[in-house]
Amino acid sequence: MALRRPMIAGNWKMNGSAELAKELFKKFTAKLENDSAEVVLCPPSIYIESVRQQLEANKAQLNGALVRMGAQNVSQHNFGAYTGEISAKMLNDAGCQYVIVGHSERRRMYGETSAIVADKFAAAQKAGLTPILCVGESGPAREARRTFEVIAEELDVVIEKNGTLAFDNAIIAYEPLWAVGTGKSATPEQAQEVHAFIRSRLSEVSPFIGEKIRILYGGSVTPSNAADLFSQPDVDGGLIGGASLNSTEFLSLCSIA
Ligand code: G3P
Repeated sequence: MALRRPMIAGNWKMNGSAELAKELFKKFTAKLENDSAEVVLCPPSIYIESVRQQLEANKAQLNGALVRMGAQNVSQHNFGAYTGEISAKMLNDAGCQYVIVGHSERRRMYGETSAIVADKFAAAQKAGLTPILCVGESGPAREARRTFEVIAEELDVVIEKNGTLAFDNAIIAYEPLWAVGTGKSATPEQAQEVHAFIRSRLSEVSPFIGEKIRILYGGSVTPSNAADLFSQPDVDGGLIGGASLNSTEFLSLCSIA
């Protein structure tokens, strides 16, 4: 197997239902093979338990395919008076192996700074979860040719707090804000350029981690643009929003990766 097993992670955002999971598993069991991409399902927290139960119930029929649970967000705190929050340990107890941190919707709408994201990254790892760290530039930042600067800043704050070696147990998702939910994906060349930049930045400290870390692309990925995006040398799969809600499209992305 290649050093980096491709990954397809479905971020349902505040969408979906327990029914969606049933439909997905019905299709997965017929199609996924043990050498397929690793699949991660990130439903809303309230559905994690029922999706996990579906996963357990269908395990025998999954042909050895790797399907795992993830969450969309985590508290940076371990426990205490934080109404509405969920700790990393709770996610671990609920059967999650992954958690998305620093999604642009959380940074933009809920005031999550890079420092908070770095704390969430640490909290996730401390509880045994693998963080999927999202980074990405806005449209105006790209137009102003500040893409690398923005990505470097978002990465460096996490590196400063956690150290480069922490990326031995992490996934990075490059999600340009202008591509998220807009129907306008980055071109394969744009994605490759940024992915290569991220990999080289991590390689500066540890060539091994730079080579090993999986970097996903996210932003308007569909079955029609996925093959070109995923065939780029530094693109190791996708973090999928809208298309993860359609079981046929999601499964087809899993086969393309
Ligand atoms: O986290 C996934 C994401 O933000 C991309 O969403 O709907 O553009 O695939 P979408």
